[in-house]
Amino acid sequence: MEMQERDAWSSNFGLVLAATGSAIGLGNLWKFPFITWENDGGAFVIVYLACILAVGLPIMMAELLIGRRSQKGVVGAFRDMAGPAWKWVGLWGVLCGFILLSYYTVIAGWSLFYFWKSFGWTFGGFPADLAAGDLFGEQVGNASLQLMLSLAFSVATIGVVYFGVQKGIERMARILLPVLFVILVLLLVSALGMSGSGEALKFIFEPRFAELEWSGVLEALGHSFFTLSLGMGTMITYGSYISRKQSIVKSAGAIVAFDTLIALVATIIMFSVIFSVAGLNEEVGRSTVGMLFISLPELFYTEMPFGVVLGPLFYVLVALAVLTSTISLLEVVTSYLIDEREMKRQKAVMASGGAIFVFTIFAALSFGSTPVLSTIVAFGKTGWFSIADHFVSNWMLPTGGLAVAIAAGWFMTRKATMEELMDGNQPAWFRYGAWRFFIRYVAPAAVLAIILAVLLGQDFS
Ligand code: PFF
Repeated sequence: MEMQERDAWSSNFGLVLAATGSAIGLGNLWKFPFITWENDGGAFVIVYLACILAVGLPIMMAELLIGRRSQKGVVGAFRDMAGPAWKWVGLWGVLCGFILLSYYTVIAGWSLFYFWKSFGWTFGGFPADLAAGDLFGEQVGNASLQLMLSLAFSVATIGVVYFGVQKGIERMARILLPVLFVILVLLLVSALGMSGSGEALKFIFEPRFAELEWSGVLEALGHSFFTLSLGMGTMITYGSYISRKQSIVKSAGAIVAFDTLIALVATIIMFSVIFSVAGLNEEVGRSTVGMLFISLPELFYTEMPFGVVLGPLFYVLVALAVLTSTISLLEVVTSYLIDEREMKRQKAVMASGGAIFVFTIFAALSFGSTPVLSTIVAFGKTGWFSIADHFVSNWMLPTGGLAVAIAAGWFMTRKATMEELMDGNQPAWFRYGAWRFFIRYVAPAAVLAIILAVLLGQDFS
């Protein structure tokens, strides 16, 4: 069969935007604020930042370099860089993309629902008698609505990946990311003007180490994989479209910095709103879903300055952030079919997108038959949705991340990794020796600690 020419990012900026788009998603807007809340802010945030720097950043560089050197998707990349048996590690990543996308799409659908609703509230007024929890319960329990929402999202994702790396993924990221930044800045300005903002900043940034538990440290580590899209080959796949003219170190630094900034900004916004309303703390504290989809909608319309405009903008922001993440998940599976099964992109996208959607159906219907709110809010382990999230967060990403560190640190030669990182465009602050120390020792030890903790019963989902 004739080789298809490999697609590539048009520039360093294109890669940084697309990869940042992958990294920014529900992890930043949904999970991070919640786990910061659960772990009582301050010290947890510092530990999280340390994990991002000590584990996330070196692994980000490792994934990008494995991708660029091999010029293949995750399966071929591991095989070519570390040895034939490593193709199984790559397949683990493809499977992970498959599962993660199947339930991520469902939450994406919720953001569409709330966007649509908030649009109505902006023009028609927020109903005074609306019990927000009931609205949420109704929508997740409505099977046909769930299917329609997730189908719409899947079609959008497939539609972008269909057009390829530069004309689909990169172009979309170029449009969406700036919009996302502008919306976030507007929200931040408005949130900082609220009475609770001082308390929120204190909660997030004032270290209170006495209150941090050991389990919180491990949760921070697990989340750093999820939020940076590491541990399943997404950044390997994106790295395979980087040209030799670009700097891996600079790109990795920018992606990690943007992702972290956005997570912090989202948390400041949410907590400023929450701390501005007396008594809301206890109510919100119960679940992540509660914060994003139950408490916030009402607060936009009752508390927040310019909330009528910012409400719909916020849910559009969530939907857009999620779209750039689902695109990257689908690209992992698609690029496997293109590189290893020699399919044409269009066919590969349809095949992988269609197959994943079958599992999305299971995820979307996970809530229908059970007492809906208690199932999700308490994170009960029923239904495909919860099982999938549990499995991916607890097992797949940490083990995948460990594999990346071992492949880059121990199986690839020093010469090979050095050529990729010291590519002539690297920034002055970068020290190859430090990276190698982190990837060989620090990152594997930290990840093993998570896995051990999971085995001993710690749940990160
Ligand atoms: N980084 C995304 C988030 O924070 O929501 C989640 C994610 C997307 C993980 C894509 C992995 C991935 F390949």
